[in-house]
Amino acid sequence: MSKRALKTSAITGGGAGEPADLDFARSLLAGLRAERKSIPCRFLYDRRGSELFEQITRLAEYYPTRTETKILRACAGDIREATAPGSLLVEFGSGSSTKTEILLSALDRLKGYVAIDISPSALAEASSRLSGRFAGLTIYTVEGDFSRDLELPGEFGTVPKIGFFPGSTIGNLVPDEAVHLLANMGRILGQGSRLIVGADLRKDREVLLAAYNDAQGVTAAFNLNILARANRDLNTKFDLSLFEHVASYDSERGRIDMNLVSRSDQVVRVLSHDIAFAKGEAIHTEHSHKYEIEGFQLLAQRAGWVPARVWTDADQLFSIHELHQPQAAD
Ligand code: SAH
Ligand code: AVI
Repeated sequence: MSKRALKTSAITGGGAGEPADLDFARSLLAGLRAERKSIPCRFLYDRRGSELFEQITRLAEYYPTRTETKILRACAGDIREATAPGSLLVEFGSGSSTKTEILLSALDRLKGYVAIDISPSALAEASSRLSGRFAGLTIYTVEGDFSRDLELPGEFGTVPKIGFFPGSTIGNLVPDEAVHLLANMGRILGQGSRLIVGADLRKDREVLLAAYNDAQGVTAAFNLNILARANRDLNTKFDLSLFEHVASYDSERGRIDMNLVSRSDQVVRVLSHDIAFAKGEAIHTEHSHKYEIEGFQLLAQRAGWVPARVWTDADQLFSIHELHQPQAAD
């Protein structure tokens, strides 16, 4: 196998066939014309959005990344023991694939690594770095929306698969969507597969609010970038200074809600439509659900997975779940 065994778009990606700009234009207009305005959070991740997310992962207030990384380092040996040689590692929302390096170092003799992400720049940077660091690893990159139908090619039909979905990206979906996505992952990975999922845990609201309202304003820039992206890609004329990043915690639902709140009455021309904003009106941009361990396991069970081991940090900030996809006879 060559050192730079990199196969791009070897797999049908979700959203394939529709250019990203068209998907963004349709979704932006539909979301801003609805009674309660919203923009789907997948559009937070263009090149600039992926860069800002990486900055977020290094913030003192943003505990999830460093905590999950620490747990993963501690449990990588356990994951290795249960992984058959020749398995295919399939990651959903791979981003910079930084945590993946821990698994790639622990799991030798993999058949290959499939990185799925909606951000082309994140995929390109990660695959180029990994192909330099992991000689002989075959890397497949899939640019697309993991919530739409994804298919692995027939050649992987009988290959044992291990799914990886870190970052608590599952929390960015509302529970019914999360069940649908987990069920779809089960179908893609197949009978007898395993899925390693990171899920952020419920905790003091002050800790959560600080993580999404950092002092340097990086999260605010990440949130506002969705409007900056519309200006760049769709030629809209949002005045970013007229929108404020607001992240609040809904303790009943156990979730952070990110919004962009209009600082004044204003009208913005969006793709030949005048969109009116009242002062104080919000555009919802992201949910980030926090789970109890049992609550997450019930969600996984609703999606047809069997919960197995769970690893957490000593402060119970974050959890990593191992899920099994039963064999037909199980
Ligand atoms: N796994 C990394 C990155 C998490 S950030 C980590 O744990 O740090 C979330 C990642 O998911 C981003 O890279 C983003 O581009 C990707 N993403 C978000 N929504 C997506 C979708 N619908 N389909 C595919 N990728 C998506
Ligand atoms: C990727 N995702 C799990 C992050 C989160 O914490 O919900 C995205 C993010 N939003 C604001 N800060 C980070």
